[in-house]
Amino acid sequence: MRTTVGIIGGGPSGLLLARLLHNAGIDSVVLESRDRSYVEQRQRAGILEQATVDVLRSAGAGARLDREGLVHDGIELRYDGRAHRVDFPSLADGRRVWVYAQTEVVKDLIALQLAEGGPLFFGAEVQAVDGADTERPVIRYTHDGREQTLTCDYVVGCDGFHGVARNAVPEHVRTTYERTYPYSWLGILAEAPPVHDELIYAHSERGFALASMRSPQVSRLYLQVPNGTDPADWSDERIWDELDARFALDADPEWRLKRGPVTAKSVLPMRSSVTEPMRYGRVFLAGDAAHIVPPTGAKGLNLAAADVIVLARAFEHLRSTGSTEQLDTYSDTCLRRVWRAEHFSYFMTTTLHTDPEQSGFDTRLQLSQLDRIATSPHAAAELAENYTGLPLA
Ligand code: APR
Ligand code: PHB
Repeated sequence: MRTTVGIIGGGPSGLLLARLLHNAGIDSVVLESRDRSYVEQRQRAGILEQATVDVLRSAGAGARLDREGLVHDGIELRYDGRAHRVDFPSLADGRRVWVYAQTEVVKDLIALQLAEGGPLFFGAEVQAVDGADTERPVIRYTHDGREQTLTCDYVVGCDGFHGVARNAVPEHVRTTYERTYPYSWLGILAEAPPVHDELIYAHSERGFALASMRSPQVSRLYLQVPNGTDPADWSDERIWDELDARFALDADPEWRLKRGPVTAKSVLPMRSSVTEPMRYGRVFLAGDAAHIVPPTGAKGLNLAAADVIVLARAFEHLRSTGSTEQLDTYSDTCLRRVWRAEHFSYFMTTTLHTDPEQSGFDTRLQLSQLDRIATSPHAAAELAENYTGLPLA
């Protein structure tokens, strides 16, 4: 088999890239190792930046998002027993964010790809890419129990943090910058109405907590827990009690979350990682295959979308002008945005979490920073601009 762009991985990056290329009349094949229902059920974050929503809409993938997505114009920060709202449109040039889960984005893109797009194979596990620095890179994969090959003009590795495409960049060319954090998140889904109509990010000496949502009936809640925590050690009641303690407000001692049946419970590690460059020869890396962020800034999916937007434009530019200029600058263009998001995610994470080694001095610095955001429009604008996402060039 052969194609113009061979895409490894059918997560948000691979699926959105395939859709953008299809709309531009460029053919592609997507190879995804898992089955469709696994990919559609995998629980991930749920905040879409304005630019991500704009591109989903213009790609014809925004209909359900426009019906079911929840528009948010701010977030609440809770710290020191107080609540402070950060307003986005007034601080970030009119931009807002949407609550629409990654699972739903993936379902919409899969349905479109199967109905209108090029081939999307599930259960197709890629082993390696050969000839990254030749004119005809070849993807080797197993499908239907047989070893197969896909010969491409270009290959894009959208295969996530544990993917294989990164290995096509020789070790002497590749550098990975990493940071791990001394805590994880325990995340739950609950059949309980969100307690507030915006997200609440809470700093507390007991640890970080986040109240998010999936719909007006379903809450998504997170608690900072030690690394290595077994979710089985956290009964539903213990989770709710701990969430209430971390969100406590001095001015409203009766404030409580709305409780309901917990339908999913899992522990997520927190890690930052960037691999440079994001291109070698005719192989490009996009999304989690090239970089991951801790979820505190809600940037993972949006960064993935930004990469493939830049890449799809570069392929269109190549087709209409014959110039590889935009493909040649792909890595540098994306890495500027990636490092901004890495910094913001690191900032949100370290400002809001309690490091087990943290001193009273460190806690007071965190509270001072949060207070600065609450009292200075400049400091609040810095958060709002980063959270809603810098506009794409
Ligand atoms: N062969 C084929 N497919 C593979 C292989 C392989 N060897 N290895 C991984 N995959 C598939 C995975 O099964 C997964 O469906 O690649 C896909 C990668 O998807 P994601 O991990 O979701 O990465 P990406 O599409 O870049 O999306 C980034 O996901 O992790 C979140 O927070 C992150 O929201 C962000 C988004
Ligand atoms: C989520 O809803 O899953 C979510 C929201 C905001 C974050 C992280 C996760 O920062």
